[in-house]
Amino acid sequence: MAIFDKFRPVSLALQDLTNCGVDSVNVVMEHFTAPFEAVINGRRTVLAGTNNYLGLTFDQECIRTACEALQQEGTGTTGSRMANGNYAAHIALERELAEFFGRKGAIVFSTGYVAILGMITALAGPGDVILIDSDCHASIYDGCRLAGAQFMLFKHNNINDLEKRLRRLGKQTENTLIVVEGIYSMLGDRAMLSDITEVKEKYGACLLVDEAHSLGVLGKQGRGLAEEAGVEDDVDFIVGTFSKSLGTIGGFCVSNHPQLELIRCVSRPYIFTASPSPSIIASTRTALKILRTHPELRSRLWENARKLYQRLKDMGFVLGPAPSPIISVRLKDKGKAVAFWKKLLERGVYVNMVLPPATPDGNPLLRCSVSAGHTPEQVEQISEAFASLWDVSEPPLMS
Ligand SMILES: Cc1ncc(COP(=O)(O)O)c(C=O)c1O
Repeated sequence: MAIFDKFRPVSLALQDLTNCGVDSVNVVMEHFTAPFEAVINGRRTVLAGTNNYLGLTFDQECIRTACEALQQEGTGTTGSRMANGNYAAHIALERELAEFFGRKGAIVFSTGYVAILGMITALAGPGDVILIDSDCHASIYDGCRLAGAQFMLFKHNNINDLEKRLRRLGKQTENTLIVVEGIYSMLGDRAMLSDITEVKEKYGACLLVDEAHSLGVLGKQGRGLAEEAGVEDDVDFIVGTFSKSLGTIGGFCVSNHPQLELIRCVSRPYIFTASPSPSIIASTRTALKILRTHPELRSRLWENARKLYQRLKDMGFVLGPAPSPIISVRLKDKGKAVAFWKKLLERGVYVNMVLPPATPDGNPLLRCSVSAGHTPEQVEQISEAFASLWDVSEPPLMS
């Protein structure tokens, strides 16, 4: 059937990988031997490809509160909050998020992806404009497509390009939503948020910041890049996910705009999917409490991130612009990326292999994510595994 013809390129690409002895899309963590260690292909492997920044997935208090919620409220909500009702804990978590961010309101969504879709589609539609940084995550692109608004990219972190586009829009800037990320998920660099908020204010546009990778990571209190940059008052909507520093699954938006409450009634990704299950909400609430009360986790995360970044840099790898819990080794060609990824796994280290077109500049990446939960020995094992790559070939550098 011709309907399947479109799968031919992906089938060939997968075959290519299989021919190299690599099955990167079907990695199985057979069982866990420690919070950051699992058995993969029968081998104990350090996990350096999660987004578990604060290491909370095995936190005993998070597990205990999730178990209690399971016992008391069951395994799932079986429907959407609009149709099937709210659990008190959904509302409590929203109150806690709003309070943490110092905002009037919060909405919880079923995943981070759904939060982005839900917010962008509710805020922008036909007749509106969405301007996004070109390095934004796929969820932001998908939200723009689904919204039906005119959508444009500005060059990554290029304020002149952003301003040029706003200038050209004239009066339409009042109907313009700008979307950027706190920490960008591929190279670990940050939005130039002070400049972006300045330009946004000048042109009267609306700004949404996706703090998926910066919640719990940046800011004195862990609220993300807007807090760290001191511009929280100029950000209209902060969106985030529970699936990274909070170690669960779900998403949220916080805002001072009173219209946030109305978004529940118009956002199809909020209305037409089941709400997060009680155990997830319970462990998320506990994780948020830990994030707020244990700043030492953030310090440990940064200590590990800086150490690994410096080690890889000293080895001569080309990395993202500055230390970050996302450390990406930038490579020149796909063949090397595949060979190196395989070798790292054989050395007992799992990282993410990201191949074009999913990378910002069309070059492959080996993406590590560092956690507060990595032990010094694990950080050492990760860097030693990278050091061993020098035996495989010539320096694997991008020029
Ligand atoms: C920047 C960004 N936004 C949103 C998401 C979606 O979050 P989730 O996986 O929790 O649905 C991700 C996921 O990786 C992301 O990197």
